[in-house]
Amino acid sequence: MSNPSLLILAGDGIGPEVMDEVKRVIDWFGDKRDLKFDVSEDLVGGAAYDVHGTALADETMAKALEVDAVLLGAVGGPKYDDLDFSLKPERGLLRLRKEMDLFSNLRPAQCFDALADFSSLKRDIVAGLDIMIVRELTSGSYFGEPRGIHVENNERVGINTHRYTESEIDRVARSAFELARRRNNKVCSMEKANVMEAGILWRDVVNEVHQADYADVELSHMYADNGAMQLVRAPKQFDVILTDNLFGDILSDCAAMLTGSLGMLPSASLGAPMENGRPKAMYEPVHGSAPDITGMGKANPTACILSFAMALRYSFDKGDEATRLENAIESVLASGVRTADLMQAGETNPVSTTEMGDAILAALEASL
Ligand code: IPM
Ligand code: MG
Repeated sequence: MSNPSLLILAGDGIGPEVMDEVKRVIDWFGDKRDLKFDVSEDLVGGAAYDVHGTALADETMAKALEVDAVLLGAVGGPKYDDLDFSLKPERGLLRLRKEMDLFSNLRPAQCFDALADFSSLKRDIVAGLDIMIVRELTSGSYFGEPRGIHVENNERVGINTHRYTESEIDRVARSAFELARRRNNKVCSMEKANVMEAGILWRDVVNEVHQADYADVELSHMYADNGAMQLVRAPKQFDVILTDNLFGDILSDCAAMLTGSLGMLPSASLGAPMENGRPKAMYEPVHGSAPDITGMGKANPTACILSFAMALRYSFDKGDEATRLENAIESVLASGVRTADLMQAGETNPVSTTEMGDAILAALEASL
């Protein structure tokens, strides 16, 4: 049998730097755990635009549809700020999500004990936090038609359409309920059913799916604005949060900051199962391309490495190896190794991106 295939799209800014550390981790699992992957690499975002004049070449899109999983670094940068909207680096990412039909975006917000003091919230509010945001990723205001800017009565009008079909809500709700069963069995669904019809439908369909197939899971509903407030008031009340594309974008950044640093947070974007039973999948850190520190060796590779751990768990059914990697990272943090984003006032001597990679590899070795 051939090895499972990975397509690495390192992208822009710190993407290539953090991805270099992921490649070392991938090699380690190949050498030491007999988990070998066929790895190929290609361009996305500004890096693709520079070569192909588009943020994602058709050949790259075709490859992404063929592999077992895509690992993405980050896209975007100030160099591309003035590009036409259709050419912007972000369009490459959105095209991947849409054409791979990655409707379920898993964004865990976990507070590592060693980092509980880095949060802008008090330690006891966030210590031990472990929530999972399930964000719908292929519909809603990000993709709804009609959209655009046109002139009406001599003034410009900007239009985006917040649109959800029943089947779109149904499938992402199922993925949230399935996940909850493997966690603490609770789902809180967030929308704005008080002002939006699409929110009323969202709530109805989530209730229907729940009653039909997941009545054993504890389900609650919250208006998304209240949800944002509850996330900073008492985040530990949540287990799985289910929400749409736009609210999910906002709520997941909010949840991310509870954990202290964006440099720590991975994500998985999953679609329907392929012929081999694996879901279509793309894994990426939640952080962006961080142009301000690009090329300085300062970036924290942890989020990108944790995204590979998610790939081990969700694409390759290697939950034990994913846990091994997560534990290795936890022990590195517990030993006080810190990249620059994890420095507190008065602390000095952060480790570099590569040194963080070294420490994680050493911890993996120690786990054998
Ligand atoms: C995210 C990002 C993207 C989004 C951008 C880069 C298009 O903010 O993954 O959360 O808005 O979805
Ligand atoms: Mg975002």
